[in-house]
Order: sequence, then structure tokens, then C-alpha cells
Amino acid sequence: MTKKLGFLLRLLVVGLVIAETVHGAYEFSRYDFPPGFVFGITSGANGDIACDQYHKYKIVIMSGKQLNLDLLHFGLTHHPPILFDICDADGRGSVNPKGLQYYNNLINELISHGIEPHVTLHHFDLPQALEDERDFAEYADVCFKIFGDRVKYWTTFNEANIFSMAGYDLGFMPPSRCSSPFGFLNCTRGDSLLEPYLAAHNILLSHASATRLYWKKYQNIQKGYIGLNLLSFYSVPFTNKTEDVIAARRVTDFFMGWFVEPLVYGDYPEVMKNNAGSRLPSFTALESQRVKGSFDFFAVNFYSANYVKDNPESLNIEPRDYFTDMAVQWKCQRMQRNTSLEDWPRIQYLQEHISVLLDTVRNGSNAKGYFTWSLLDVFELLDGYRSGYGLYYVDLDDPELRRYPKLSAKWYSRFLKGGSITPDSSIELDGNWSSLSSAQAMR
Ligand SMILES: *[C@@H]1O[C@H](CO)[C@@H](O)[C@H](O)[C@H]1NC(C)=O
Ligand SMILES: *[C@@H]1O[C@H](CO)[C@@H](O)[C@H](O)[C@H]1NC(C)=O
Ligand SMILES: *[C@@H]1O[C@H](CO)[C@@H](O)[C@H](O)[C@H]1NC(C)=O
Ligand SMILES: *[C@@H]1O[C@H](CO)[C@@H](O)[C@H](O)[C@H]1NC(C)=O
Ligand SMILES: *[C@@H]1O[C@H](CO)[C@@H](O)[C@H](O)[C@H]1NC(C)=O
Repeated sequence: MTKKLGFLLRLLVVGLVIAETVHGAYEFSRYDFPPGFVFGITSGANGDIACDQYHKYKIVIMSGKQLNLDLLHFGLTHHPPILFDICDADGRGSVNPKGLQYYNNLINELISHGIEPHVTLHHFDLPQALEDERDFAEYADVCFKIFGDRVKYWTTFNEANIFSMAGYDLGFMPPSRCSSPFGFLNCTRGDSLLEPYLAAHNILLSHASATRLYWKKYQNIQKGYIGLNLLSFYSVPFTNKTEDVIAARRVTDFFMGWFVEPLVYGDYPEVMKNNAGSRLPSFTALESQRVKGSFDFFAVNFYSANYVKDNPESLNIEPRDYFTDMAVQWKCQRMQRNTSLEDWPRIQYLQEHISVLLDTVRNGSNAKGYFTWSLLDVFELLDGYRSGYGLYYVDLDDPELRRYPKLSAKWYSRFLKGGSITPDSSIELDGNWSSLSSAQAMR
């Protein structure tokens, strides 16, 4: 049995600003965290294609250097020449030498700058042909074999819960499967009643296979860790009525318990079994045993909190999907965009969230690291370029796609370099910063 790294709490904080602030921010520096606690940043998902990361990864690394990063997190499959040529009919594919070279260069370059790569195997873009447990393990095997001498942190699936519900119930993310009346889109294929549950089930089995393969074949030699990533948000009961308090807990069971309970206890939460009935697949004894305990860490992406209200009538609806089964009404918090280069609201957000994380560590949580989302203004799957999540602004009108550090980049860098960070954001952000062009970075 592998040594448990415990619960790696990796919060990916976005550049959106919550209207209602988190209280309790205070002055701190990274030295208030335990030794070995790591801080990193996530280099964006699909938008990296748009940001031309394939050609500009050295600039990304220079940006990371400028920040004084410990870690850079990225996904393996989403860059243009993907690792596998998945055109093969049987989905096995072959290693694409261009993709291989790209990732080898990226990983080597990061390491040479003292930045540890964290790698996600699946980032919302699993090719159809690989939607099979055995194929996923085979794909993972190749990645471990090729990159595992240098990559020590592997995440099997990014936001496995969002991938299942958005890809197979609401249909607004690839592979865009859904069925009327549940989808956000007029999907031409899919089954919103069954498929989100089935997809999640297969992800759990795939994750368990890849993890056990890593433990068996690689961990002793490569000395790395493997885990799963989920999207979390804090559910706040809309009123203090008992049924709303229970509803908020039910949302957590559906969002997080869906994956965490099988991974920790070997089975789905009772409330999911009750509400979804036979639409929720069940684990055989052997599957349950394989899934249970199959992780070294959990990673959590966190954006914001939502208010929820009980909605018992939902369970009288037939047919039902994942969200109807949850039986709640959403009362979402308002969020603001802020794409300004002088992004004080983002700084405040980061200040507050990192200080709450420090509180949890002081209270005994086994959190191990924190990644900010994201390094660059990237193309968001749901939002195009409007979100501006990055600590760096990317000038899309510039043929060189120059990146400019926002104030938040300077703030985060100051923190990463050990500087003390104050809650009123009145710190002086000095330092000589300039834009990074490809010419500079490639030198
Ligand atoms: C779905 O189809 C309906 C009826 O044809 C149409 O009114 C609606 O705009 C379509 N929605 C989308 C998102 O395409
Ligand atoms: C719920 O109760 C707490 C403590 O009594 C109170 O501070 C809070 O305002 C109440 N929330 C609502 C929505 O009534
Ligand atoms: C973004 O934040 C800055 C600084 O607080 C503020 O001046 C600006 O108006 C904000 N922009 C938007 C679009 O909210
Ligand atoms: C830490 O523990 C204190 C005392 O139990 C509690 O009031 C506080 O909410 C906890 N903070 C966090 C972030 O868990
Ligand atoms: C900042 O860097 C630029 C370019 O390297 C240099 O010309 C300038 O003098 C520097 N400014 C300060 C205040 O150090």
C-alpha cells in the first residue's frame, strides 16, 4: 500500500471577484505556512492553443520565473499536437513524436528553472475513443513511462465532477452529450438521465486503474504521487431552516461525495443512491475495493460560494437528471469581472483566500499546496476571452501576443519571494517589470 500524501488541497483561485468578501484576511507571508507547503500557478486549459502556448512555452516559463514559482501545473492532452494520434480506429493510437518532443522540452525547461511540473492526464478533452477504462490506463501508462522520471505529481482527471455533469447531462462541454429537456444545448445524442452517472462511474474506475498501475509499476522507482481533481464550491443555506441546511449538505454530497465517498469509502453517498435509484450504477465488490483508497491526494478547484435552497418538489418530476435528483434551488452569488491591469479586487480575493487556507492549516488540515488560476488570460471554455483570469494580460491584438503583468502578478510574486502581504492591499508594489515578448523569452 502506498504512503498516503494525504489531502492535497489545491485551490485554483480565479480572477473573478466575489461580491461578498471573505472575512478574516490578515497579514501573512509564505513562511507562516509549514515547510514544504508549495505555491504554484496553473497554466491555462484549452486557451493555451489560442495563446499560442505551443510556440511560446518558454515565455510561460519566463513568466513563472518572474513570479518566483515553485510549481507550474498543466494538462497533457490539450495542446495542439496531442500525445496520441487518436485517429486509430481502436483508439490505441501511437505516440505522436511532435507532441512527445513538445512535452519533453516543456518539462525539461521547467525543471531547469527550478519549477516543478504538475501534470493532468485528462483535461476536458478525452478523445471519444479513449472513453474506456482500459484505454485510459494504457494512455496513462505511456505518460508515466515517458515523463515519469521527471514528473512527480499526476492528476488523472481535471474537475471529474464537472466533466461528468457538463459533458453528459447539460451538454455544454465536450463531448456535448445531453437529452431533452435537460441539456443547455439541443444535443443530437446522449441521455441526461443516465450518462452523467455512467461517465462518473467510468471515470472512477479509470482513475483507480491508472492509479493502481502507477503504484504497482512506477511509484517505487519514480517516487511520485497521483490523485484526482474536483471542482468544489461552498454551499451556503439560503435560510437557517433545517431543510435548507440539509439541502446545502446534499449539494456537497452530490458535487464532492459523488467522487470522494467512492474513493474513501468504496461507495456513493446514500442520498445519491436514494434520489437517483437505479440510474446510479453500483459497484461490484471488486470494483469498490479497487476504487477505495486509490489516491495519494485530492485536488480541489475553488471559485466561489453559492446559496442553495431546498426544493423537494424536484423529486416528483419524471424523468429526472442529476440536477433534478439534487432537489435544490440555486441562489447564486453575484460575481464581477475585472480585467483591469490594476486588478486590486483580484489581489483582495487572493489575500482573503490564502489567509483562510492558512487558517485551515493552523487548524490542523493536511493541505499541501495552493495553485492560483491562472497564469495568463486564457480562453475559457464557457466564457471566451472575457473572463481575464490571468495574473498576466495577453495582448491578443499584438502579433507577438505580448504578456503584461497585472498588479496581482506583482502581488503574488512578492508573496512567493517571501514578502509579507497585508490585508488592506496598501502594499507598495515595486520592482522593475516589463512585458515579455517572444523575442526576449526565446533568447
Ligand atoms: C433549440 O431548439 C429550439 C427549437 O428548435 C430553438 O428554439 C432553440 O433556440 C434551440 N437552442 C439552441 C441553444 O440551439
Ligand atoms: C442564520 O443564523 C445565524 C446565526 O444566528 C445568523 O447570523 C444569520 O444571519 C442567519 N442567516 C439567515 C439567512 O437568516
Ligand atoms: C476593476 O478594478 C479597478 C480597481 O479597483 C477599478 O478601478 C475598475 O473600475 C474595475 N473595473 C471593472 C470593469 O469593474
Ligand atoms: C479554525 O478553528 C476555529 C476554532 O475552532 C474556527 O472558529 C475557525 O472557523 C476555523 N477556521 C477555519 C478556516 O477552518
Ligand atoms: C527597468 O528596466 C529597464 C530595462 O531593463 C531599464 O532601462 C530601467 O532603467 C529599469 N528601471 C529601474 C527603475 O530600475
